[in-house]
Amino acid sequence: MDRAAALRDTLARRGVDWAAPLEWPESLPSTSDVLKSRARDGAPEWSVLCAVTQTGGRGREGRAWASPPGGLYLSVLLRPQFQPVGLLPLAAGVAVAEAAAELGVEVELKWPNDALVGGRKVAGILTESSSGRAGIDWVIVGVGVNVAVDASSLGTEVGRAVTSLHLEVGRPPSIEATAAAVLARLRVWYDALESRPASVVDAWRERSVSWWGGLVQVRTAQGLLRGRLHDVDPAGALLLDLEEGGRRRVLSGEVRQLRPLDPPPEGG
Ligand code: BTN
Repeated sequence: MDRAAALRDTLARRGVDWAAPLEWPESLPSTSDVLKSRARDGAPEWSVLCAVTQTGGRGREGRAWASPPGGLYLSVLLRPQFQPVGLLPLAAGVAVAEAAAELGVEVELKWPNDALVGGRKVAGILTESSSGRAGIDWVIVGVGVNVAVDASSLGTEVGRAVTSLHLEVGRPPSIEATAAAVLARLRVWYDALESRPASVVDAWRERSVSWWGGLVQVRTAQGLLRGRLHDVDPAGALLLDLEEGGRRRVLSGEVRQLRPLDPPPEGG
């Protein structure tokens, strides 16, 4: 059985009937980029594209996403007809956290959706969208999970900052089972986004890092911010109490925990 058929089969055994196209070729530049062009050509909602390896995997904030064999590289196409879609990255984070928990790994979510174990990253999510005059046309949720990639193969700097499901549970979980768990949980939380959006924020908060009230640095497109993590708001934005006073609502950025003695940034 090929990988796509195995995934469809695993989903069916979980009671999830996957009617949309599901493909899993050996190698692609980036599953999200290829699915994006399918979205523009009218591919249906819930089309899924995975790859064994990616040659041009992309992460958040313009970073590259190393994609050797042993990882899950999955993109799924959504066409939400509801608001607020801003919660989708959080919903995807909860889905990934629950999938990891099913496989025996408890992760903490760092806003918006980095999945960490003991501060080391085990999964990341890249959510990209396009809208037209009629509203959102498509959203691609790209999920990368380090199922069993040897951290040492990723170079010293990245290697130190990452872990894998394999390392955490002591045996390699199946990549198809990981994909099925992510997709099944994503379906549940996507439905919740429409009917019970507050439940998504609550579920995200429950699985989030325990740094609330702690000092952080947030890198945004407008510059660096320093302050204390206050909360997330009902639309999924991060609320930061700035060191210089006032509360800032952050829609996109990269959060890093600071120790109290870390020096302030030069030039912001
Ligand atoms: C992050 O920076 O944390 C997000 C990483 C997202 C990586 C996934 S792998 C599947 C999909 N294809 C890509 O090129 N990126 C996403």
